[in-house]
Amino acid sequence: MPADTGIEGRDQAPSEVRVAGEVEELERRFQELVDADQRIEPRDWMPEGYRRTLIRQIAQHAHSEIIGMQPEGNWITRAPSLKRKAILLAKVQDEGGHGIYLYSAAETLGVSRDELVDLLHSGRQKYSSIFNYPTLTWADVGAIGWLVDGAAITNQIPLCRCSYGPYGRAMVRICKEESFHQRQGYDILYTLARGTPRQREMAQDAVNRWWWPSLMMFGPPDEASQHSAQSMAWGIKRHSNDELRQRFVDVTVPQAEVLGLSLPDPEIRWNEDRGHYDFGPIDWDELRRVVSGDGPCNRQRMAHKVAAHENGRWVREAALAYEAKLEAGYKRGARASGRAA
Ligand SMILES: [Fe+2]
Ligand SMILES: [Fe+2]
Repeated sequence: MPADTGIEGRDQAPSEVRVAGEVEELERRFQELVDADQRIEPRDWMPEGYRRTLIRQIAQHAHSEIIGMQPEGNWITRAPSLKRKAILLAKVQDEGGHGIYLYSAAETLGVSRDELVDLLHSGRQKYSSIFNYPTLTWADVGAIGWLVDGAAITNQIPLCRCSYGPYGRAMVRICKEESFHQRQGYDILYTLARGTPRQREMAQDAVNRWWWPSLMMFGPPDEASQHSAQSMAWGIKRHSNDELRQRFVDVTVPQAEVLGLSLPDPEIRWNEDRGHYDFGPIDWDELRRVVSGDGPCNRQRMAHKVAAHENGRWVREAALAYEAKLEAGYKRGARASGRAA
């Protein structure tokens, strides 16, 4: 079943009414392209379920980038130095840019950014539940960069090879910027971990609070993941949630050792037989609660997002009025030069 994107299926234009057997042939050719690791481009035929799944996924990703500006934006005016402030400002702006590339990628699938923003604001589309946690201290900015952007990169690197061209290409640039984000977070924690006892404690407390929510960013365990198998067959997803989560844990545990900070899980230990780190059970009830709207900041994040959109209405109206004026000017100019000819 295609995922519910909140977007109605488009009626096919009469010229696109297919004769029996034609759709099967198109589907076969589509799957052949995907299996051969070729890219699907906006004008190519694609199954409706593929289009809807991509819209849902790309929109959720775009919304997450935009909502994700809030927890860190909270610290821009309180960054501890001019340098840290400039870095954080650049990082938060990058996230806004990621949202814009992704809305543009979604628009190539025949949906408008306005529609997607409405779906978010009316609660019919979601954003990553990680952004429903508060940023209590400056060390949270470090923990978000290291863990949240780190988990995002682990998820997103395979998406650079996504079968849908515009999404894969957007991810290439996004991943480059995400790796800068991850390093800036790591650098903040590295500095705090070597600072005063109070700074060290602040860094440890932030890691304690962000560790488990970061592991939840990979989504539910494989046996409970609804969309995975079809997304894999379509070349949208390359690895399962649990595989990516394990990869993240394997990369992150040695980094925590270098930081000299501990991870809040007594069960983490290297498993020689598996060649991976074991880790303790994840509280999936917490994820369910936060996803269904009951996280510490869900209401605050959405209220802020809707208010910012409303406050920006005059800017959008002014831009459209200016564009209409330019267009009218061009038309007058064209008519005048037509008469002159
Ligand atoms: Fe981002
Ligand atoms: Fe980022």
